[in-house]
Amino acid sequence: MLKAGKKRLAELFPATSAVVNSDDFKGSLRSTMVLYTGAKGASKIIVAGLGKKETCTIETLRRAASAASKRAASYGVQNIALEGVAAHGISAEDGCLAILEGAMLSNYKFDKYITAAKNKKKISSITLFSDSKQLVNAGKSVLNMARSIYDGVTLARNLAQAPNNEIYPETLAKSAIAAAKGTGVKVTILDKKKIQSLKMGGLLAVNQGSVRPPVFIVMEYKGGKANDKPFVFVGKGITFDTGGISIKPAAGMSDMKGDMHGAATVIGGIIAIAKAKLPVNVVALVPSTENMPSGSALVPGDIVTFMNGKTAEIDNTDAEGRLILADALTYASKFKPKAVIDFATLTGACVVALGTITSGLMGTNSHLLEQIKKAASRTNEYVCELPLHEEYEDLIKSDFADVKNSGGRWAGAITAGLFLKHFIGDYPWAHMDIAGTGMSSSERDYWPKGGTGIGVRMLVDLVNHYKA
Ligand code: BES
Ligand code: MN
Ligand code: ZN
Repeated sequence: MLKAGKKRLAELFPATSAVVNSDDFKGSLRSTMVLYTGAKGASKIIVAGLGKKETCTIETLRRAASAASKRAASYGVQNIALEGVAAHGISAEDGCLAILEGAMLSNYKFDKYITAAKNKKKISSITLFSDSKQLVNAGKSVLNMARSIYDGVTLARNLAQAPNNEIYPETLAKSAIAAAKGTGVKVTILDKKKIQSLKMGGLLAVNQGSVRPPVFIVMEYKGGKANDKPFVFVGKGITFDTGGISIKPAAGMSDMKGDMHGAATVIGGIIAIAKAKLPVNVVALVPSTENMPSGSALVPGDIVTFMNGKTAEIDNTDAEGRLILADALTYASKFKPKAVIDFATLTGACVVALGTITSGLMGTNSHLLEQIKKAASRTNEYVCELPLHEEYEDLIKSDFADVKNSGGRWAGAITAGLFLKHFIGDYPWAHMDIAGTGMSSSERDYWPKGGTGIGVRMLVDLVNHYKA
């Protein structure tokens, strides 16, 4: 611990001086030490390590704040106060926001179905304090942003983690309406009839084996000027993916309740942006259905005609996400987008390539991809670009239709991206494969086990910093 810090603590809280001066606490990142002060109002102080000065970034602040608030939560504490930090080239605003994000996002648990959890005490208030006027002002200026991000990420996590008997297409639509209340976001739900009249053949094909009808959710936020072109976010909304007739093995299939994480991301994203009142126009589009096997289900060999008139031969009914996204990417043109970004738990191949830490990024417009990479690095929601070289197209050539919906095992994330590329309109486009990053099998820093809420923070940062 820094000498100055020790001195200050020992002066303010004499009872802590022995432990503070013991050198037992080394200050490595994620480590915490609890001090019993004997003082009223602040009976416990948690000191959180930031590691070495040279390696300290805003992500370090998020992780340290997360470690501190988890330690506090372990004592059943309901009110915590964190000290604002600005140091090591991090601005006061960025520092305050990072600390709030780390503390707020880390105590999330999807425990609403655990009856015993009802009475468990949880952290319900977080205060940020400082004796520096500059930091206090910085804290105030990012407060609404922090709350908005928290609400958006939590919404996305809740939606992604909810089981299929809670969140299926119609309840996903209801959740979008409920979340938009009071935010200024307009929500329109296209029902099966409307979807049929729009000839969204991909969405209808995936839905035809299911008892539950599909929906197409349209959310619009107008925070910018009336004639500003909107960002359009598209999210894969498969509320459960059995694989259909090309059915998946039983082991691990329950994870496929999270096959609508793309939808969760764009719904959480637009809500966060609206709550933060960012001066931009945004549209979120969610094609949603289950992917079920049944007597009426799509089968391999079928040929599907999409909204834009193109056709695809079904090679594997488990490659369903791209079929519903195809129609949504066509529909997106209607809004004359500034840029279209889709989020989808699209391929197991992406998980093989990048694991659960990094999302696959693909696209056609280098300016947009650069902006996404910057936003991803600021928010620590890692992305890695995969190439859409036209040579890969051979893998999805069909003898009987314009394209085939599966290219087999090799370069599976890329052939999925190339399939989508067939359906984009005249707009800059990027595709995020979040199959690995959407569902986490273990808790880590401010990331929970289960639905992670990936992409929400990145989207907020992207539209907030976007340079045309
Ligand atoms: N939803 C899955 C992809 C997925 C896998 C998401 C693991 C999250 C974790 C997608 O619909 C799928 O089944 N993709 C197939 C495509 C293949 C048949 C071309 C896959 O990746 O195996
Ligand atoms: Mn599938
Ligand atoms: Zn799927």
